[in-house]
Amino acid sequence: MQRIVLLIVALAVGFASLATGPAVTASPVNYQIPDEVAAFKPGPNLEIVQGNCTACHSADYINTQPQMKDKKGFWQAEVTKMIKVYGAPIDDADVGKIVDYLAATY
Ligand code: HEC
Repeated sequence: MQRIVLLIVALAVGFASLATGPAVTASPVNYQIPDEVAAFKPGPNLEIVQGNCTACHSADYINTQPQMKDKKGFWQAEVTKMIKVYGAPIDDADVGKIVDYLAATY
């Protein structure tokens, strides 16, 4: 009889420690989002490009384009697409300057 009581006590203690379990420490995780790393290369009309081409996406989109033979034609088409298809509010007067910068720099 005593053995059974002991067994029950042992089981009860065992379950009790299972229920409380090891201390769980949940501290908030803080981390810093890295700064924007993609930057436009220096070149003529850089400020105009920064002002017109950073509203919707990073400079990565420009950095990662393939090398084309007809750079000017390629960038002209890209800038036109940004305006016509994606609605980029770019001044007509700036389009040529932006294309010149992109063709010379990328
Ligand atoms: C009104 C928003 C907007 C502005 C401003 C804008 N873009 Fe984009 N651009 C987009 C969108 C939307 C995409 C497509 C995103 C995707 O496919 O994930 C894109 C994609 C691109 C791409 C990737 C190739 C492609 O054709 O999809 C390039 C290169 C690019 N933009 C260049 C430029 C340049 C250069 C300028 C400045 C003259 C510019 N963008 C300004 C919206 C914009």
